[in-house]
Amino acid sequence: MRSQRWFAPDDLRSFGHRSRLRQLGYSADDAEGKPVIAILNTWSDLQQCHGHFRERAEDVKQGVWQAGGFPVEMPVLSLSEMFVKPTAMFYRNLLALEVEEILRSHPIDGVVLMGGCDKTVPGLIMGAISMNLPAIFVPAGPMLAGRFRTERLGSGTDVWKYWNERKAGNLDECALRQVEEGIARSPGTCMTMGTASTMASITEALGLTLTGAATIPAVHSAHARMATAAGRRAVELVWEDLRPSAILTADAFRNGVVTDMALCGSTNAIIHLIAMARRAGVPLTLEDFDRISREVPVVVNLRPAGEFLMEDFHDAGGVPALLSRLRPHLALGCRTVGGSTIGEVIAGAEVLSDEVIRPLDRPLARAGGTFVLRGNLAPDGCVIKPTAAEPRLLKHTGPALVFATYADLKARIDQDDLDVTPDHVVVLQNAGPVGAPGMPEWGMLPIPKKLLQQGIRDMVRISDARMSGTSYGTCVLHVAPEAAVGGPLALVRDGDLIEIDVEARRIHLHVADEELAARKATWSAPPRRYERGYSRLFLDQTSQAPDGCDFTFLEGGWPTPEPDIY
Ligand code: FES
Ligand code: MG
Repeated sequence: MRSQRWFAPDDLRSFGHRSRLRQLGYSADDAEGKPVIAILNTWSDLQQCHGHFRERAEDVKQGVWQAGGFPVEMPVLSLSEMFVKPTAMFYRNLLALEVEEILRSHPIDGVVLMGGCDKTVPGLIMGAISMNLPAIFVPAGPMLAGRFRTERLGSGTDVWKYWNERKAGNLDECALRQVEEGIARSPGTCMTMGTASTMASITEALGLTLTGAATIPAVHSAHARMATAAGRRAVELVWEDLRPSAILTADAFRNGVVTDMALCGSTNAIIHLIAMARRAGVPLTLEDFDRISREVPVVVNLRPAGEFLMEDFHDAGGVPALLSRLRPHLALGCRTVGGSTIGEVIAGAEVLSDEVIRPLDRPLARAGGTFVLRGNLAPDGCVIKPTAAEPRLLKHTGPALVFATYADLKARIDQDDLDVTPDHVVVLQNAGPVGAPGMPEWGMLPIPKKLLQQGIRDMVRISDARMSGTSYGTCVLHVAPEAAVGGPLALVRDGDLIEIDVEARRIHLHVADEELAARKATWSAPPRRYERGYSRLFLDQTSQAPDGCDFTFLEGGWPTPEPDIY
């Protein structure tokens, strides 16, 4: 075992290491000769979705002890999707880097990854892939369904809805407080099909969790049992030497994309899956997502695309049941951390509600998890979730209304004299990985107040930003290259005609090439707001959205040597 390099030799260094285990209160029987299992815990007092993780870490430890391992809990960057600014995405790669280096620098043989809130999932997994120690993921699980009077509330989706009612004067102060108190009423992640639910489900489909783990509500006692079982299994993974590299094959990633499309998952999953795949040395491109989206129908009926919430998905059989429906689209031989193959997982699964997990021949949408558009406005691609859009807007040409920054948009979008019609295409520039920075979830650009008052609820919106998985509308996202690095999005001016044709996967700026070249010649990059520290590293190293926004020096599989132990 790897940890034996620290503890076993008969030398001065190991004598020191062993004496320090005694200092921690562990006898030789407790620790030595056992697999050391790191429990990487993304708990913090400002991580609202992981409130149960201190207790759950104890559940994991119990399982590690039971199986004859030595559990060590280590805190890692907590990344609250709500509280971390400018956006948790800005720090996903920092978490990944931290995970990799914590594992490398310590006497650790296997790892339990505890995450759930949006960016914690890819951050933990990307780091674990790069270090490639036996690893198992313990998802935080969804929070309880929300409640306001007789209504069931969904995270995010109902926040926008009730906030609009508040703006329209239909919700008094008292009712607003009741929504505030009822929409997030337990630990656990957003219980709509946002990024957290999407990534947890994909993680299970990739084979990185125990069977059925992704959908167990955070406060369900089954969640504690799953955590303990994961601890036990982590020890066995070390003895079996089953590593992420044996699980995360090209076929596994394909299964992940199939699952994403059937969920109508968050558009963020595209960026994360590409980043994870590249860490694993698997080529995965936007074209793979577009191709698979044409083949796989949306069958999971969860908000915002559908009507149900995560605990309904769980009660309907969860991810194994979904995978059983998707059987014709899946590579069944892929291995899982539980020890069985995806085919074996499916064999034991049953769909318990055809309303929550629709049959393939009665889907929520025939296709359309996420489509990829290309054209002179997005030479490297951009994405749209057609199920979230009003169908009439999926083929549309209109004049651009351009905002250079989010501050510009915020300052002007609700002005009474804004020159805008329902046919306009709202464009936000400089909201991408470098521009914002960190590519925040600004992509569901607000509808101008003037149009809201006319009853308009959707229009074409284009940006280089991301969008929350709980959002909706005709939003073209992840435009690449982004405006801040000189992508054509930077050259759009008010009144330019923009055409989108989603069926044809086309996005076109109706401006002549010569004119665009002339505009490019006078374009200069916006000034960088951050010039030191982590921000500088991010701005210098982030890749663009189609490449996963990883740091270029972290991609790929060249092995970093194990540390010397002297
Ligand atoms: Fe944590 Fe949504 S805020 S998952
Ligand atoms: Mg989010």
